[in-house]
Amino acid sequence: MADTAMSLDGKRVVVIGGASGIGFAVARLARAQGAAVVIASSREANVSAAVERLQGATGRAVDVRDEASVAGFFAALGAFDHLAITAGDWGGSMFYASSRDLDLEQARALLEVRFWGVLAAVKHGCRTIAQGTARSR
Ligand SMILES: NC(=O)c1ccc[n+]([C@@H]2O[C@H](COP(=O)([O-])OP(=O)(O)OC[C@H]3O[C@@H](n4cnc5c(N)ncnc54)[C@H](OP(=O)(O)O)[C@@H]3O)[C@@H](O)[C@H]2O)c1
Repeated sequence: MADTAMSLDGKRVVVIGGASGIGFAVARLARAQGAAVVIASSREANVSAAVERLQGATGRAVDVRDEASVAGFFAALGAFDHLAITAGDWGGSMFYASSRDLDLEQARALLEVRFWGVLAAVKHGCRTIAQGTARSR
């Protein structure tokens, strides 16, 4: 018997960070499983390019470092079923440096997307995400 509770067919899946890398792979897989996919990232050009690469997907820009951007994104988006966040902007080499040389300002800034950005998305996304789609046991 098909497990409809876990099926993405006909669901609306939002992928923040979906313009490239892991997020794009998530978007592609969800699309292949019949989901309506919304690709989001901070740069409009990246979103457009990803939407062009993934037939049937739509896209919208959002900068998770900016709470107003996140609030506007979810308000404009409307109802959805699932949210995946893979957004990340790490590229520095500080993690290969000694702890005693750590620049704490730089360390805090590195959490803007991965931690605070995710929290902002949860805060605003939980208002319009579908309720009760989780499997109950
Ligand atoms: N790939 C790996 O093997 C691997 C392994 C371990 C951990 N990770 C981590 O997992 C995360 C995803 O990896 P990835 O390989 O998919 O990286 P990626 O290809 O660089 O994708 C990151 C995505 O996040 C978006 N993004 C960056 N800043 C954003 C912001 N402020 N608001 C919204 N979207 C933002 C980027 O698009 P825009 O530039 O358009 O915003 C991009 O689409 C990264 O943080 C990475 O460090 C990756």
